[in-house]
Amino acid sequence: MSIAELIWVEKYRPSRIDDIIDQEEVKERIKQFLKMGNMPPHMLFYGPPGTGKTTMALAIARELYGDAWRENTLELNASDERGITTIRERVKEFARTAPMGKAPYKLIILDEADNMTSDAQQALRRMMEMYANVTRFILIANYVSRIIDPIQSRCAMFRFSPLPRDAVLGRLREIASREGVKVTDEALEAVWDISQGDMRKAINTLQAAAATAKEITPEVIYKTVGYIEPKDIVDLINTAFSGDFINARDKLRTLMYEHGVSGTEILRVIQRQIMSGAINVPDEAKVEIAEVAADIDYRLTEGSDEEIQLSAFLARLMLIGKKYGLGTSKEAKAPAKKR
Ligand SMILES: Nc1ncnc2c1ncn2[C@@H]1O[C@H](COP(=O)(O)OP(=O)(O)OP(=O)(O)O)[C@@H](O)[C@H]1O
Ligand SMILES: [Mg+2]
Repeated sequence: MSIAELIWVEKYRPSRIDDIIDQEEVKERIKQFLKMGNMPPHMLFYGPPGTGKTTMALAIARELYGDAWRENTLELNASDERGITTIRERVKEFARTAPMGKAPYKLIILDEADNMTSDAQQALRRMMEMYANVTRFILIANYVSRIIDPIQSRCAMFRFSPLPRDAVLGRLREIASREGVKVTDEALEAVWDISQGDMRKAINTLQAAAATAKEITPEVIYKTVGYIEPKDIVDLINTAFSGDFINARDKLRTLMYEHGVSGTEILRVIQRQIMSGAINVPDEAKVEIAEVAADIDYRLTEGSDEEIQLSAFLARLMLIGKKYGLGTSKEAKAPAKKR
């Protein structure tokens, strides 16, 4: 078995444009270009990780050159530490020989273009012009704002969006069934909770969990990725609200030292649980909590002691809980609210 078959994100990477999930607008425009046999000079794919940008670039290569796609495609990573000089040499070498097959040009896929300095991008722009009659560039970036204007204006732009929940869950179910993995609906929700619209992260999480357990439950998922279970956090918050500071601090320590969760992560999840409505908190209290959380977050990034800062945060939650009469029940309302 090859590596590509062992790693699910590769095994289940769609090879045809039509099989790419969601991204309908992008797919339509690209299919239109291909149908007219009239690819734009260059293209810029941008959007968050794991949404199909590289997959789309490779699918276009297959569409253009069929079986000869590898010979006609140069895949480069701009983050390569050897820099623009290496890129230039490889492009030059690649552009020297004529394309094989029906397309009159070769394809250069440059991943992580937004990691290039603006000087390097200027050099890239000259390359794009110099080889324009024999090559087409597909630039890929997470942040379009980091791509210099002269390059943007030379490219047809395609924006990739985070994949919607149903698309991710549907794909996970399909993969689980093809791999013969048992996974509960709650576990799939937990994967979504972690990955959101990043399909790569979702599939990787599922595979990592499948390697450790026969039947995948939310506990398995959260354990695999070293995350805290939302219900543990809900429990911690309610304990603080109810005024039981000592108990809340013990729970905090357990999370930090036994489960190895960072203070920043705990703060992030507490904040999310409160704001998402998993716990019943009036809006005025939410505002106060948001302010305190921002303050603590700042101190953590400044390098303050995590346990001290998080304890202070719990103390503030306790006061806010008292003021608004929160946390009368000590029971966690598990599981946490699904989005
Ligand atoms: N739209 C999609 N449809 C189906 N599978 C997808 C999609 N997007 C991502 N995937 C899955 O996630 C993996 C990674 O996707 P891809 O390499 O295209 O992400 P990307 O957008 O290039 O991310 P990055 O910005 O991190 O490079 C693919 O191999 C595939 O398994
Ligand atoms: Mg990519």
